[in-house]
Amino acid sequence: MTAQTTVTLNNGLEIPALGFGVFQTPPEETISSVTTALEDGYRLIDTAASYGNEREVGEGFRQSGLDRSEIVVESKLWISDYQADKAEVGFEASLRRLGLDYVDLYLLHQPTPVDFDDTIAAYQMLEQKLAEGKVRAIGVSNFSPDHLTRLIEKTSIVPAINQVEVHPYFTNATVQHADATLGILTQAWSPIGGIHRYRPSDVPGSGNVLEHQVITELAAKYGKTPAQIVLRWHLDEGRSALPKSTKAARIAENFAVFDFSLAPAELAAIDALDTGLRGGPDPELLNTRSFPKAVDNS
Ligand code: A2P
Repeated sequence: MTAQTTVTLNNGLEIPALGFGVFQTPPEETISSVTTALEDGYRLIDTAASYGNEREVGEGFRQSGLDRSEIVVESKLWISDYQADKAEVGFEASLRRLGLDYVDLYLLHQPTPVDFDDTIAAYQMLEQKLAEGKVRAIGVSNFSPDHLTRLIEKTSIVPAINQVEVHPYFTNATVQHADATLGILTQAWSPIGGIHRYRPSDVPGSGNVLEHQVITELAAKYGKTPAQIVLRWHLDEGRSALPKSTKAARIAENFAVFDFSLAPAELAAIDALDTGLRGGPDPELLNTRSFPKAVDNS
């Protein structure tokens, strides 16, 4: 098998570029999805406290029989745990649910722009956990360039990762540029445009990128599937990508992308599909009042 692509974070930690996502994977399907992914060769699994399936991710890892050092586990603190007196409890609850004594990558799930002091307090807790060796690299998710600037001004460690919505219909170029300038890895959630399939009513006219002619023609040219073309686009542009599936055939399909690469003009043709319209929520509008769902850490 061709070796999988890796990326090196700004603190020197090398991680697989392609990971397995479990957003919207029900807990009862998570263990089997994770064990299937690990059997196929995935070594990076991305979850979050708010996904409600950290326990099953940890169990899937244990059932795989792999050594702890062989896999990279990534999770995220939800905004209900951002205040200074809550953040550590939230982090430790993630570790407890995962059944691990350290997590490889831990991110703030969202900025809370109108309560940014809470975002900073939560990030300072992550800095402390990094110093304690309970996490190997820290980062953020859904941060705009302005949120990154505001965070970096008040904290000591530049995030290693910014996990944001990136797919051909929303390339998030401004964020990618800011990340690159600051030495932050852009990691794509909804990398094959799944958000448009989960939330079709929110994005009028955006459709399914896997059916776009630019993608299907490249699929025919390379003898690959549309999803494989889009995942290769992420890897060839230097991003990390976290496709989600609960179906064994697709989990395998999404990992079979290490034996070809796209030409620069083909990458540019995919970049040109950008609509400028995000499928997910606008991070600027998120806070504990607009989104009161809290993670239960009991
Ligand atoms: P399912 O879990 O039923 O396979 P994203 O990771 O961009 O959010 O996309 C995830 C969505 O795309 C899910 O609805 C998933 O459905 C579907 N999906 C995952 N892999 C593929 C694939 N290779 N081809 C088509 N659809 C896929």
